[in-house]
Amino acid sequence: MVNLIEIKELQKMYLMGKIEVPALRNINLTIEKGEFVAIMGPSGSGKSTLLNMIGMLDIPTSGEIIINGIATSAMREKQRAEFRLKRIGFTFQFFSLLMELTALENVMLPMMMSGENNKDRALILLKIVGMEERAMHMPNELSGGEQQRVAIARALVNKPMLLLADEPTANLDTKSAEQVVNLMRKLNKEINQTIVLVTHESELGRKANRIIWLKDGMVENIQNNSNFDS
Ligand SMILES: Nc1ncnc2c1ncn2[C@@H]1O[C@H](COP(=O)(O)OP(=O)(O)OP(=O)(O)O)[C@@H](O)[C@H]1O
Ligand SMILES: [Mg+2]
Repeated sequence: MVNLIEIKELQKMYLMGKIEVPALRNINLTIEKGEFVAIMGPSGSGKSTLLNMIGMLDIPTSGEIIINGIATSAMREKQRAEFRLKRIGFTFQFFSLLMELTALENVMLPMMMSGENNKDRALILLKIVGMEERAMHMPNELSGGEQQRVAIARALVNKPMLLLADEPTANLDTKSAEQVVNLMRKLNKEINQTIVLVTHESELGRKANRIIWLKDGMVENIQNNSNFDS
């Protein structure tokens, strides 16, 4: 097994005025290529902070995150930005599609930002997420679950080595939420997509092959899902 992410003694402090708020305290973790990992834990336990560190949206206070063998602390901002655009796909709680663009144009956006214009690839991704018939719809003509599926297609368009999702189902009804996580599971199995999913819902967390439980900025427990392949 190959480690895609190695996290060593990671700490993150936020400064609130003069008070330091510890958001992550001494996290040690490895995530292998091809894993589907869920991060769970109470509100304020550090889930989003951890995901943002892995996605290089924010910088650790101390410790190291090694992605695909590269120490992220040694990267300059230009390299970090390139990594975020080309190697990491993000989806968030709010679907963050651009409302003036069609579903297809939204999916094509990250590709165009990296100088490519492969409409066929965007259409294939819309097909994978079951949205090919909605390619020409505007986001406001789609349900929340459909928008989230378009957002997942968009996150995958540059073939990222890692898909990060922070509560992508928080605004969805139970059925749509399950569909979105089932889609992630399918992507994990069929294209071996490595996924880190933050969720509050244990029903959804259980679909991952490992659950990392955080509490007070620390790893409280790691739970393997022995039924994952069934
Ligand atoms: N920008 C910030 N400035 C100061 N403190 C912050 C900041 N972001 C997060 N925190 C604090 O860090 C801790 C962890 O926050 P984080 O957002 O990672 O929690 P979470 O597990 O994602 O919670 P939730 O389930 O509510 O989304 C919390 O105590 C929070 O108040
Ligand atoms: Mg959060």
